[in-house]
Amino acid sequence: MKAAMPLIRAERLVKTYRTGEVEVHAVRGVDFAIESKSFVVFVGPSGSGKTTLLNMIGCLDHPTSGKLTVIDTDVGQLGRRAAANFRGEHIGFVFQDFNLIPVLTVYENIEYPLIMVQDWPEKKRREQVMRLLEAVGMSGQAGKRPDQISGGQKQRVAVARALATNAQLVLADEPTANLDHDTAYRVIELMKKMRDEFGTTFVFSTHDPKIMGAAEVVFTLEDGGISKPSEKALEKAEAVHA
Ligand SMILES: Nc1ncnc2c1ncn2[C@@H]1O[C@H](COP(=O)(O)OP(=O)(O)OP(=O)(O)O)[C@@H](O)[C@H]1O
Ligand SMILES: [Mg+2]
Repeated sequence: MKAAMPLIRAERLVKTYRTGEVEVHAVRGVDFAIESKSFVVFVGPSGSGKTTLLNMIGCLDHPTSGKLTVIDTDVGQLGRRAAANFRGEHIGFVFQDFNLIPVLTVYENIEYPLIMVQDWPEKKRREQVMRLLEAVGMSGQAGKRPDQISGGQKQRVAVARALATNAQLVLADEPTANLDHDTAYRVIELMKKMRDEFGTTFVFSTHDPKIMGAAEVVFTLEDGGISKPSEKALEKAEAVHA
């Protein structure tokens, strides 16, 4: 029997930025695999390559060399248009500064991708938004606008929006950077609960060591390389090989 492909696989993945004469080696030939339905974090200091990696996985940036496979697709080969379609179909995003649309209500923010990115009929949209409002504990705030809710609540709405199109993969670059520690922890726990409930794979980044403990798989980035596998990853690997 053929083993199932991981959801994401990077092989000698490189990203080099060129600005005039200067080259920045943002990602220096990394290899990793991320299994479907896992809860994964990339940690590392500022400039270590977290955003660059997440942007390549999210098809927002193009690898310089190496191979990156996301959901059975060699994303390095996608042109602009195809990359945009791939994102709209398969990937949800959660941002550091929430990125909610200020003039829309909580309800409308979650509904937005179902109208603009995909084209769901009204009844199906309504069911999906209600289900997600419930799942993230925001049913009581559906009619409020983003400036009427707290940072933690905004990020709950953003998580619901990322899940609206039933994306298989949600990417979150420093989703807790603008939250206090307790709120940050609760947002991460919410993402994990959504993984359990919807089977969505979550990949996030942080430089907060306290937050990374909530992840099941930790990749530590250092100067564009993966410096060491996590304890948990090693334990899992040992269990597999035992
Ligand atoms: N568009 C770009 N052009 C040139 N250099 C870039 C670009 N984007 C990132 N870099 C450089 O690539 C390296 C990795 O940056 P990246 O943003 O991926 O780090 P990061 O781990 O996300 O950092 P932070 O924690 O500050 O968000 C840094 O040296 C950065 O200056
Ligand atoms: Mg970053």
